[in-house]
Amino acid sequence: MSATAHQGLVVVITGSGQGIGRVLAQRFAREGARVIVSDIDPHACTQTAAELDTVGVPADVTQAEDCARLVEKATTLFGRLDVMVCNAGIMQLKPFLELDGSDWDRMLSVNVKGCFLSLQAAARQMLQQTPLAVGRPLGKIITMASIAGRPGAGPIAQVIPHYRASKAAVISLTQSAAMTFAPKITVNAICPGLVESDMWRRMDADWTALQGLATGEIWSQRIAGIPMGRPQSPEDIADLAGYLASPQSDYMTGQSINIDGGLMMN
Ligand SMILES: NC(=O)c1ccc[n+]([C@@H]2O[C@H](COP(=O)([O-])OP(=O)(O)OC[C@H]3O[C@@H](n4cnc5c(N)ncnc54)[C@H](O)[C@@H]3O)[C@@H](O)[C@H]2O)c1
Repeated sequence: MSATAHQGLVVVITGSGQGIGRVLAQRFAREGARVIVSDIDPHACTQTAAELDTVGVPADVTQAEDCARLVEKATTLFGRLDVMVCNAGIMQLKPFLELDGSDWDRMLSVNVKGCFLSLQAAARQMLQQTPLAVGRPLGKIITMASIAGRPGAGPIAQVIPHYRASKAAVISLTQSAAMTFAPKITVNAICPGLVESDMWRRMDADWTALQGLATGEIWSQRIAGIPMGRPQSPEDIADLAGYLASPQSDYMTGQSINIDGGLMMN
């Protein structure tokens, strides 16, 4: 996309203090958007916002008041909210029989309830605004699911059942929201594959420790199976997010799009 592809768009990204969200914030800002960085980690939030010379709003997506305050900040500063990226998420790797109720509560609270509350807060604002141009949606919402939420799974399913369930729920939630808000707001999910990120570094460390393998071993095995021959970069995801934020995707809603180098083909 060009340097002005998102000129003036007001974009809020949850969980953007680091990782994929941070790269999305960098990309939208570089392409002219007015970005609000948000994260539960106030330090990461402030630091990323400062780097981008933009606003940082610490917020915990599991708290409805935080989500409302985040959206209110966008509208107070910029008068509207064009794109909400519900990106915040957590991962935990633990064998099936060792998982307990608190693991499930935490996973579903952040990945599902947090996605819902941030999406809902954004939709409430978007429904009150006028479109940027006649015939266009009032706003666009992008959720962050995963290929882990798709049916069918490799051996990793044994150690992330709650994460997989949470991402399947995000796909379902995306469809419910798309149906609820069409034709006024588009809602689509991104399903990344194996992203070279802190999240995956932590997963590899935990999984190799469980299996008594050398650090990096699981990551190498997984990468070897990617048809496109390389791990995914957050920039790949930014390309898709840019499209979903643009007028080129105005007719698309309720979709969950795999961007994973061909790991899952459907
Ligand atoms: N890394 C991958 O391979 C991969 C693959 C598929 C999907 N995803 C999804 O992409 C999203 C981003 O993942 P990432 O790799 O950048 O992870 P990450 O751990 O690097 O970043 C996640 C960010 O979310 C923030 N966060 C956590 N709980 C929060 C809360 N309650 N409220 C607000 N912010 C919170 C964290 O502080 C962190 O800054 C997640 O939803 C993840 O499930 C990642």
